[in-house]
Amino acid sequence: MDEFVVTPWEVRGRVDYQKLLHHFGAKPLTPAELSLVEKYAGEVHPLLKRGFFYAHRDFDLLLKWHGESRPWALYTGRGPSGPVHIGHMVPWILLKWLSDKFGVEVYFQMTDDEKFFDDPEMELAKATGWAYENALDVIALGFTPDKLHIIIDTKDVEPLYPIAVKVAKKITWNTAKATFGFSDSTNIGLIFYPSLQIAVAFLPTELRGETTPVLIPCAIDQDPYFRLARDVADVLGYPKPATLYSKFIMSLTGESKMSASNPDSAIYTTDSEKVVKRKIYNAFTGGRPTAEEQRKYGGDPEICPIFHYHMLFDPDDGAVERVKSDCKSGTLLCGECKAALFEKVREFLTRHREMREKVAGRVDEYRLGAKLQ
Ligand code: TYM
Repeated sequence: MDEFVVTPWEVRGRVDYQKLLHHFGAKPLTPAELSLVEKYAGEVHPLLKRGFFYAHRDFDLLLKWHGESRPWALYTGRGPSGPVHIGHMVPWILLKWLSDKFGVEVYFQMTDDEKFFDDPEMELAKATGWAYENALDVIALGFTPDKLHIIIDTKDVEPLYPIAVKVAKKITWNTAKATFGFSDSTNIGLIFYPSLQIAVAFLPTELRGETTPVLIPCAIDQDPYFRLARDVADVLGYPKPATLYSKFIMSLTGESKMSASNPDSAIYTTDSEKVVKRKIYNAFTGGRPTAEEQRKYGGDPEICPIFHYHMLFDPDDGAVERVKSDCKSGTLLCGECKAALFEKVREFLTRHREMREKVAGRVDEYRLGAKLQ
């Protein structure tokens, strides 16, 4: 299928990432930016090196700004509608790495309001509950309260609201419709919501009282928000946000993106080991139908979610290259490859769950609203 759709609320079809980049008007990440990362961080994270993060807006300018010892912050977020899957965790792993290497603070928005507006079945208390629950997955990456500021929209709107109203005044219905595809039947909550997602990009400047641009690492589906943020920044006297975009983590069924409506398409941080094993062993692969054909013709790692996960979870470049070449040459069979992946994911999730339990009940220590009181 050649046709594909990518919006903040929907990803359908096999995504052509280069076409999408062209369509959105963002820039490809090049060796020039990566060597600046190396200069300041001392190394380049595998998710950048391997092209999982592949595009940006003004990342080069932000790195130069950093080189001049000027202040900046990191910003990203989550629409809390259910448990977090590994697809969400991957960009947050880079977020933590960036925060550590560059010594910058993170603003993390939990949009319980957005999920309430977007899903007719969602109760507000439930979305807020998921916000607290999902926050544990972020905190479990090892953040301390001085470095991570969590904003739960319905709890912590106070510092955001004055910025959001200024943003909202600069965005016409025509622009909102063209950017997000709103229609006459869209509820007005969802129509106002983008001003809140944009407002966080300007919040560090307001809180610090000096120009403090943000870098936003996220998947490319969120670009429409930040295109608009960049359009209104100048006129409101704020710095334009810089962005760093990833591709999507493939669904275990082989599609471009995992889907909340099919729980077997993704591995959730709350899945038991038994469930993780079943999901990995039942996954679609780029292998041949029989072991004999696999040995003879080899498999296709490019379309294989199992290889994709090896690429995301194994920091060892040599090991990942070996999986790729052994798959292509037919020496590695899908069963063995799945068993090796299960071990890597199991290790990650065991460590993650231990951390998650340690920080249970401590979300309020990280909430911006509670800190500002
Ligand atoms: P949400 O909850 O849809 O997604 C949370 C973050 O995960 C990214 N993402 C993925 N990354 C890799 N593979 C996937 N399969 C995958 N699915 C989702 C998304 O790009 C996002 O970064 N409106 C937002 C919440 C939000 C936000 C932000 C996101 C508020 N402020 C600032 C990014 C940056 C949302 O519903 O995200």
